Amino acid sequence: MAEVKLTQVNKRYGTVHAVHDVDLTVNDEEFVVLVGPSGCGKSTTLRMVAGLEEISGGTIEIGGRVVNDLPPRDRDIAMVFQNYALYQHMTVYDNLAFGLRNRKVPEETIRKEIDRAATILSIQPLMGRKPKQLSGGQQQRVALGRCIVRNPAVFLFDEPLSNLDAKLRVQMRTEIKELHQRLKTTTIYVTHDQVEAMTLGDRIVVMKDGLVQQIGTPLQLYRTPANRFVAGFLGSPAMNFVPVTVAQGKAGGLVLSGFGPDIAMPEAMASALAGQVGQSVVMGMRPEHLVLGEESGDHVIRLDGTIVLTEQLGAQQLVEVKIGDHSVMAAGVDPDLHLRGGEAGRFSIAIDRVHLFAAGDNGAVLWSAGSGGAAAPLRHVS
Ligand SMILES: Nc1ncnc2c1ncn2[C@@H]1O[C@H](COP(=O)(O)OP(=O)(O)OP(=O)(O)O)[C@@H](O)[C@H]1O
Ligand SMILES: [Mg+2]
Repeated sequence: MAEVKLTQVNKRYGTVHAVHDVDLTVNDEEFVVLVGPSGCGKSTTLRMVAGLEEISGGTIEIGGRVVNDLPPRDRDIAMVFQNYALYQHMTVYDNLAFGLRNRKVPEETIRKEIDRAATILSIQPLMGRKPKQLSGGQQQRVALGRCIVRNPAVFLFDEPLSNLDAKLRVQMRTEIKELHQRLKTTTIYVTHDQVEAMTLGDRIVVMKDGLVQQIGTPLQLYRTPANRFVAGFLGSPAMNFVPVTVAQGKAGGLVLSGFGPDIAMPEAMASALAGQVGQSVVMGMRPEHLVLGEESGDHVIRLDGTIVLTEQLGAQQLVEVKIGDHSVMAAGVDPDLHLRGGEAGRFSIAIDRVHLFAAGDNGAVLWSAGSGGAAAPLRHVS
């Protein structure tokens, strides 16, 4: 078991600055997910931890030991790749034994380790097969098995599920989570899939253009995103963004203007935005917080729009609605409601559910209510 600590880690490939000043401490036994769009530097970061890529600057420590100059085999890590990287000419058993035999581990110990891993992963019946005689999910289990038998201090995963079909991906996701709960090995997991990140991570690191945008638990990132990129990246359907103006209200106090009727800001929001009067900002609204119909209360934004289209998901409907010049998505609509395109609809959102960001593509958050006040506090069930 080990903590992994990155301090001011950088990677340059010639003129490409792939990873910028990454500071990250992955605690012992923690499962941390690196997530972000293609090319944001996730794999490069992971490969630097593994020792497969030299670092251009900074320090990487594993278990309190600086590993900058250690080769991969001396770092006490095991890595699973997207393409499994199994030896095609070897049986499953020999694939699992390979790394241990290289280290001159006695055959008897190897057999015990393989038995243990095979039991955990339910792959005992596959021991005599070659990789091409396995399904994608089975190959991925063997690749996981190869990590488990080595008892490393750290597991590193680079998009291990992206070659699997959607259903198997969900199943293997659960298996990886169970595996971690059982073995508690410190894990860094790379994916571009925000659902995988939300469901697997104790904490998530969101990256963009080689820069860490935010680090936090899934709920922290979902409820209090640090900027517009994080807000839009996590959550499905994605957060709606519309431009609004911070203005002085006729009755005193500040209002948000430009999307539906002017809405008076509650005190906390007004004080956070006091310096922004006259400025254009971006209002973010999660689809699940836009409610079809009229909500009561003072600080509710009521929006009259026209239904554009609906998507029936069975448990709920998604509804795209045009409000003024903007199309926004509402989720959680009763699946039994018959809504037609062109029909008028009134939507509401409590103002303490909205997020406000500085203008621009990736404006920093100016205000967010966090849990929104309405959600019940989480309790641990023991
Ligand atoms: N060997 C290399 N030489 C030059 N540039 C590279 C090299 N490897 C990666 N890069 C660049 O570094 C950046 C980060 O790449 P990286 O592979 O870490 O992205 P990623 O986040 O893993 O993306 P993906 O989701 O597509 O796997 C990209 O701009 C990529 O083109
Ligand atoms: Mg990658």
